[in-house]
Amino acid sequence: MPALFETHALGDGFVLKNRVVMAPMTRTRTSACDVPNALMATYYGQRASAGLIVTESTDVSVHSKGYGGTPGIYTSAQVDGWRLVTDEVHRNGGRIFLQIWHVGRMAHTSLMPNGEAPWGVTTNKRVRPMYSRTTPMAG
Ligand SMILES: Cc1cc2nc3c(=O)[nH]c(=O)nc-3n(C[C@H](O)[C@H](O)[C@H](O)COP(=O)(O)O)c2cc1C
Repeated sequence: MPALFETHALGDGFVLKNRVVMAPMTRTRTSACDVPNALMATYYGQRASAGLIVTESTDVSVHSKGYGGTPGIYTSAQVDGWRLVTDEVHRNGGRIFLQIWHVGRMAHTSLMPNGEAPWGVTTNKRVRPMYSRTTPMAG
């Protein structure tokens, strides 16, 4: 039986130093314009002893946002912010994957550019309340 602290080959040439994987956890700690920052770099760097870190959900476009304070990966400032994070994780000997998402109908007009309506792959209505920094648990 494999041991938790043995290495693990995840794919072609991608070897994890152990079998501990950190689950993605939204922390809502970004700076303005959904930019990852030094606080986030410290947080992820402190967890680099895991074999693999999966980051918090990260928006792929300005229209994909479902919660206030979540990071993006669609502007150069956001890419630079993530570089702070990945550099710190790598400096501490860790490996990290980015979790990307598009929340579709789970979005809210208060999070969309110019208050636009959210859009997604279904016309069904959102099934639970949303959270943002400005409108906690808006219906
Ligand atoms: C504070 C918090 C934030 C989370 N954020 C995300 C997230 O961004 N993406 C995601 O896929 N899951 C997220 N989750 C779910 C966790 O990754 C995990 O699946 C969940 O806690 C259940 O873990 P378990 O099956 O080990 O009990 C979050 C969970 C918590 C507690």
